[in-house]
Amino acid sequence: MSHTMTALLGGAGPDWVTREVSVPEPGPGQVLVRTRAVSLGNADVQMLASADSASGSGNEYVAGYEFAGEIAAVGTDTGLVQVGNHVMGASPGAFAEYVLADHRHVMPIPGSIGHEKASALPTALFTEHGALALASFQAGQSVLITGATSGIGLVGVQIAKALGARTVLATTRTDARSGLVKTTGADVVIATTSQNLTKMVLEATDGQGVDAVLDHVGGQTLADCLPATRVDGTILNIGRLDQAASTIDLDALSYRHLRLLGVSYGFSRAAELGGVIAGLTPHVLPAVADGRIRPVIDTVFPLAQAKEAADRMRTNQAQGKVVLVMP
Ligand SMILES: NC(=O)c1ccc[n+]([C@@H]2O[C@H](COP(=O)([O-])OP(=O)(O)OC[C@H]3O[C@@H](n4cnc5c(N)ncnc54)[C@H](OP(=O)(O)O)[C@@H]3O)[C@@H](O)[C@H]2O)c1
Repeated sequence: MSHTMTALLGGAGPDWVTREVSVPEPGPGQVLVRTRAVSLGNADVQMLASADSASGSGNEYVAGYEFAGEIAAVGTDTGLVQVGNHVMGASPGAFAEYVLADHRHVMPIPGSIGHEKASALPTALFTEHGALALASFQAGQSVLITGATSGIGLVGVQIAKALGARTVLATTRTDARSGLVKTTGADVVIATTSQNLTKMVLEATDGQGVDAVLDHVGGQTLADCLPATRVDGTILNIGRLDQAASTIDLDALSYRHLRLLGVSYGFSRAAELGGVIAGLTPHVLPAVADGRIRPVIDTVFPLAQAKEAADRMRTNQAQGKVVLVMP
């Protein structure tokens, strides 16, 4: 194995730059993965913008989070993970030929989906399944997923359906992407700029509201979810695609006995995220293997076109995940 590798660095300008850096060595509990494909998430482009050397911190870092590839080396205490295993997972610094990961943060690639599709799944699987678990979701319940055209939301709809949701309601801002959400199995799609979110949800749930909300949007959308959630229901804030600030009606929160929770797996303790991944493995990975849950891929670029990949995310053109294939 070479001692250096190609990596994409943020913090050197408005775009990632390619650099040769040292290949890291796995410590206790860590595995070294030879990446074959990596995927972009919203946080990757946000981090790139805030590290821009002209307008932001200028602090350089190896970019990326989600990857698929094979185990190249293992440290001590890495459980059943072995060199040569094909895995997908999440760890900072994934946009490089090799990435270090906690052994609890990689999963076997299900079925024969291959590296490109696998790289588009890890964050969506653990975030959406973890959020459903926190909401105490059970088969037969109804779920509202806001910002459902996001890379992770498109998978969230499919996980909820695969786990037996009675009804999945999903939002996008305009009608233009309603069809995209429908292909993932959503029963009702609400275009929030032209339709009243609360009213539509109540109409679709006999006036009761949904059992659980997975909110990727924040702002006014989160506020509109409270009166659209049934008594004793749960609202999980996952993302703030619109705004981090939201003015909510505390009467709706209290009179309906709602639970309003937040989760950010990028800021979880390693063991905690490991537990979330272990929890999804028996239920969700088989559904990926048999095609009930599929990644929605917008575009696959070679690593050399990382700028074009970031542009698709930054300009809100991507309809699903943007993938980079490693050299
Ligand atoms: N909690 C966690 O652990 C966790 C993990 C991963 C991601 N996240 C967060 O989850 C969210 C989704 O991540 P992602 O990578 O899947 O996102 P993404 O693919 O970049 O999301 C793209 C979608 O965002 C929607 N959007 C853009 N601006 C919006 C606005 N102002 N209001 C409402 N919708 C808007 C667009 O939907 P339309 O044009 O169709 O409306 C677009 O389809 C992000 O906020 C991310 O930070 C959280």
